[in-house]
Amino acid sequence: MRILSVVGARPQFVKLAPIVKVVQGHAEHLIVHTGQHYDDIMSDVFFKDLGIPAPDFNLGVGSGKHGAQTAAMLVGLEQVIEQCQPDCVLVYGDTNSTLAAALAATKMHVPVAHLEAGLRSFNRRMPEEHNRVLTDHSADLLLAPTQVAMNHLAHEGLSRRSVLVGDVMTDVLYTVRDSLAGTSMEIPAGLEAGNFYVCTLHRPDNTDSAPRLSAIINELGCLDKPVLLLAHPRLRSRAEQHGINLDHGSIVLNPPLAYPELINTVSLSAGVVTDSGGLQKEAFLLRVPCTTIRPETEWVETVEMGWNALVSEDLSALARTVHRPAPVATDAAPYGDGHAAERTIAAVLAAFGG
Ligand code: UD1
Repeated sequence: MRILSVVGARPQFVKLAPIVKVVQGHAEHLIVHTGQHYDDIMSDVFFKDLGIPAPDFNLGVGSGKHGAQTAAMLVGLEQVIEQCQPDCVLVYGDTNSTLAAALAATKMHVPVAHLEAGLRSFNRRMPEEHNRVLTDHSADLLLAPTQVAMNHLAHEGLSRRSVLVGDVMTDVLYTVRDSLAGTSMEIPAGLEAGNFYVCTLHRPDNTDSAPRLSAIINELGCLDKPVLLLAHPRLRSRAEQHGINLDHGSIVLNPPLAYPELINTVSLSAGVVTDSGGLQKEAFLLRVPCTTIRPETEWVETVEMGWNALVSEDLSALARTVHRPAPVATDAAPYGDGHAAERTIAAVLAAFGG
């Protein structure tokens, strides 16, 4: 059997890593990188650190408006699929690369498996929400990370195509966390363990409007500990356009981190402030309290258990939310046991393996 994995953006490289390991010996596996993310620190570093082989194809699509970017991927993927004749196209998460791959394969009658299916924010302003809904409804096999995701798929009439496999990000995180045990990796910018927050911001709703971004930066600058702001290229470029200085008050500005450095840094931090989906979950898995600057989250389990709290409209609540008392300890495992990749490959082989 031949599986074609399509990835393009940073969180997808992380999800690909455990799949690459598990698929060996079970199927031929080819990788397409759409080129959505292309900076070293957003792309190559993940392949190197997570032991992912170089992609078999790189479409080099780069940045652009949603339509142009997705369309360029669609054109490139059609050619790759034609050339490779895969038995299944495996797509990951909710980026424009996910949607382009699902569309290209569906139109060519190649079965599509969607890893991380069934997540919903119910916020149609998010590009990821369109990407998820459209991908789930075009895919043939829906690989859900959580029971909540399974419930969403059931509500949309997609139960028969859905399998609960767990979350592959748990697989990667546990592997990397264990490999870091006993090593002494440094925290960036000489910060002191337990006495800083880690922050990431990249969502259009938080970065594209100058007053909104400025208000967030002001609130972050007033927190009671240094705030290590790992600045995504989009944040830097929007801040520059809006004339906003990111290096403000408590903020310590830093480039994004490679995955092992990120896990090490978060695990030594006093808390996380983010609008990333993945980081909310990573914080929970490392049992670090998280504050999410969004009106809603797909990872509702983290909020229900008190390990994550949402702040959106009223940004003046940010400081008291970040400084809130520690959540109640829990050994709950809503994101699986670290073996989601095995169940994913088993489900793909069972569905399309002949
Ligand atoms: C994309 C995904 C988002 C995911 C995020 C992870 C979509 C619609 N969004 O958002 O779901 O959470 O990746 O990071 O697919 N840029 C660079 N270098 C790069 C990549 C991007 O400079 O390597 C800059 C460009 O100015 C670009 C901007 O960042 O226009 C946004 O990149 P893009 O891939 O469009 O979306 P992300 O915000 O990264």
